[in-house]
This record gives sequence, C-alpha cells and structure tokens, in this order.
Amino acid sequence: MAVLPRSPAGRVRAAGGGLRGMRTLIKDGTVVTASDTFASDVWIEGGKIVALTDPSQRAALTGSGQPDRTVDAKGKYVFPGGIDCHTHMDLPFGGTTASDDFDTGTVAAAHGGTTTIVDFAIQSKGSSMRAGLDAWHAKAEGKAAIDYGFHMIMTEANPGTLEEMGGLVREGITSFKMFMAYPGVFLVDDQQIFRAMLRAGELGALITMHAEIGLPIDVLVQRALSEGHTAPVYHALTRPEVAEATGTERAIALAEMAKVPVYMVHLSAQRALERVMEARDRGLPAYAETCPQYLFCSEDDLRGEPGNPWKGAGYVCTPPLRPAHHHAHLWRGLRNYDLQVVATDHCPFCMKDQKELGRNDFSKIPNGMPGVETRLYLLWEGVRDGRISMNRFVEITSTAPAKIFGMYGKKGTMAVGADADVVVWDPNQEKVLGKDTLHMRVDYSPFEGRKVIGAPSAVFSRGELVVEHDQWVAKQKQGRGQFVRRGTFGL
Ligand code: URP
Ligand code: ZN
Ligand code: ZN
Repeated sequence: MAVLPRSPAGRVRAAGGGLRGMRTLIKDGTVVTASDTFASDVWIEGGKIVALTDPSQRAALTGSGQPDRTVDAKGKYVFPGGIDCHTHMDLPFGGTTASDDFDTGTVAAAHGGTTTIVDFAIQSKGSSMRAGLDAWHAKAEGKAAIDYGFHMIMTEANPGTLEEMGGLVREGITSFKMFMAYPGVFLVDDQQIFRAMLRAGELGALITMHAEIGLPIDVLVQRALSEGHTAPVYHALTRPEVAEATGTERAIALAEMAKVPVYMVHLSAQRALERVMEARDRGLPAYAETCPQYLFCSEDDLRGEPGNPWKGAGYVCTPPLRPAHHHAHLWRGLRNYDLQVVATDHCPFCMKDQKELGRNDFSKIPNGMPGVETRLYLLWEGVRDGRISMNRFVEITSTAPAKIFGMYGKKGTMAVGADADVVVWDPNQEKVLGKDTLHMRVDYSPFEGRKVIGAPSAVFSRGELVVEHDQWVAKQKQGRGQFVRRGTFGL
C-alpha cells in the first residue's frame, strides 16, 4: 500500500504564501490533462501535487494522515491552472496606460482559472533591455497575486542588445517579441529580426512575432483619415488580412533562414493561419497562438451599433477583429494542431478617458481588449459544442504554453512534483459575463450579458486555495505571486 509522502518540515508557512506542510485533498473529481481523463483524488502538500490516487483507495491512504482541507470535486473536472502567455499589465501605450496593473489583473486572472501569466517587458528605444526588465520587475513585485514571467519586447537588435539577450536568458527571460508593425515605436527591420533570430538560436531562446507589415498599414491609415473616415471600424479596414499573412510568411522565411523556431503572437486570420500551416507541412518549427477575441468577436463588433459607431472602440485591438467567417478556420486550426495556444493579449483600456482619446480619430484609440479573466469561460463553450475536446482545452490553455515557454513540469500539468496550480471546474455552473460580474479593472466588457456554462469553483495557486466560488479567499493577495524563471524553448 502506497503511503502518502509527508513533509518532514511540518506545518510552516512557506515564502510567497504557500502552506508548506498543509495537506489538501481534492476528492472524487475527474482529472483532465492534455492527454488523459481519469477519476482521481489529488493530494497537495508544500505547494506541490504529491499524489494522484484512486478514490477507492482513499480510506487506506488517509491512514497515513488526515488532510487539513478537503475540497469535494464530485461531478467536477480538475485540471492544471491556466497559463496566459500574452498579457500587458500596466502597459504604457497610445498616450495612456493599460487599466489593469499586476495587482488587479492577476486577481482577475485567478478568478477566471488562470494561475500564471507571462507579460511583456519593454525595451524603450535607445535604452537597454536590462532597464526595461528592471522596470517590469518593479511593476510586478509586491503586486502580482499569481505567478508571472516576462517576455522581452526588443525594439532594437544592435550589438549591445544582442549581447544582452544572453544575460536575460540566464535570468529566465527566454522569449523575445519583435514587431513588424508600429513604425517609429516598436517596428524593427528584417535585418534586425534576422540577427535576433540567429542569436536566439545560439541561446535556445524563442523569437515571437507581431507579424503585420506596418509601413503600408500606416499609409492606409493616413489615407482613410484624410478622406474623413474616423470611426473605429476603419481600424480594421486599414489593417487588411493580407498585411498579416505577408508578415507571417516573412517571419517564417526569416526563421527558416536562421534555422530557428518562430512563434506568431495573436494570429487573427485565415490566410495568416494558412502560412503557418504551409510551414508546418514542410516540417518547420512554426508555432502560433490565437486569442478569444478572434474566435468570438468580429468586424461587426467594431462597427458598433446602429446610430452608435463609437461603441466599436471597445473592440479595437491589433491585429483587428476579422469578418466572422474566419472563426471556423481558427477553430479548425486549434483542433488540428496548426494553432498551439490560446492566450488573451489582455490589454484593457476604459471607454471613458482612454478609448475616448480616439473619439475623432480611430488611429488614436488605444489598442487592446480586456480578456485575462474570460478565456476559460469562453473556450469551454468550444468544449460544450464539440469544437475541441476537454484534453485539447487543457492543452491550448495550459500545457502547450508551459512547454513552448519553458515552464513544463513545474506548470501546465497534473503530475506528482508539479506546482499545485489547480482548477476545480464546475461544468454546470452558470455565469453571466459583464463588467460588474468580472474583476478586471475596466468600465466595459466586450461580452456584456453573455451567459456561459462552466466556471471554476476552486482555484489553487502553488497549493493555496486562492479563489472559491468566485471569492478571493487566500489571506494574502498583493505580492503572493512569484516570478517564474523560465527555461529555454521546450518542444
Ligand atoms: O491591441 C493590442 N494587441 N495591444 C497590445 C499590443 C500588441 O501588439 O500586442
Ligand atoms: Zn502585438
Ligand atoms: Zn500583445
């Protein structure tokens, strides 16, 4: 008979809020991983999963010590906490700052079943990546309620920054984002991208790409404005699908020449997906994420309401929302493993005072939508209507981002030794999404009034119950999250 391991340290409060020595049992649930679905009890101690056991063996096993807390998961699913590998907390952008910081944004994430985020630190042009990273550590430390890592946005690939990449990788910043869009702000040319890719290849790091070709887009934007088109929908009409498809193809070509993997962030459209599929069919390590807004919202949302085109401002994000026929292609991509991840690109701006900046000029509407809390609710609809399996749901929301971004084993799975980042999911729990029922610090919801079925009833972060029945229950909130030092590219 197996005896459950017991921490010799006894009950001591671990740094960062985990309860070392405290034993939790999640009983009678159905554990779901990226590959398996099975009835199991889950035992948690010292912030880790210490055993997955057959419920029929429980009486014998508890002989080795009663749990301190038992959570009943009968009729519920138990899966690894969500990993959102694309967020922008406290991001200065478009003349304002994203409305969620690491405090409010990570609390909201946990309420929605996400237990780790990977946010984007920014290298300001003319400054070092070190300065950018230090700034992001300062934003997150003492604030984040769940664990977090950073990618680095590289706005210059010069000899100094290429050298700096090595130090960052050693510190667990193992992925870098580069932009083909936003001339004068983030855009880097092909030579810089290529140099960064070669360096990433030496280091085992991953280059992620914002693959819209920004120079012609800016011409379309200026032309639309000069013709008097100011409404939010022009954000989409000036950033056509072909601009993303071409950027995607170019990024893949550069990665092929550099012989490195490449990861497309926030892929939104059929033709961009087809470029990724062609590359994968040729055996290239091309990966891509999409986001819930590209699966559930469309260009129609950007048009606003009859008589109120301004309402569309709440749906301005980049790349833009596409016509609804793209949805089916993206869902198929998720099912067929051509898309690996669903992240959120959480980048909220309030309608009042923030989106307002672009009231008379769509190009001045800060780009981004709220989403860190609603990802699992929305994707579960895909499980309910059979578009993806439960295992695929776990894979695209947790396991694949853990693998791609160097966290697998510690995060992204239900296995002995993994961090006990665990969601107990009630498939029958109803919720109406809206700005007042969600926790993100933003004055609207793109999904206002949408009823979803399926919600987290309990969320554990490193073994600590943080959210139960939509209430924050952990003693500590701000600052209990820990920085995750990620490994190199893990596929
Ligand atoms: O609209 C978006 N996506 N805002 C955040 C910046 C980016 O490109 O990811
Ligand atoms: Zn981007
Ligand atoms: Zn983003």
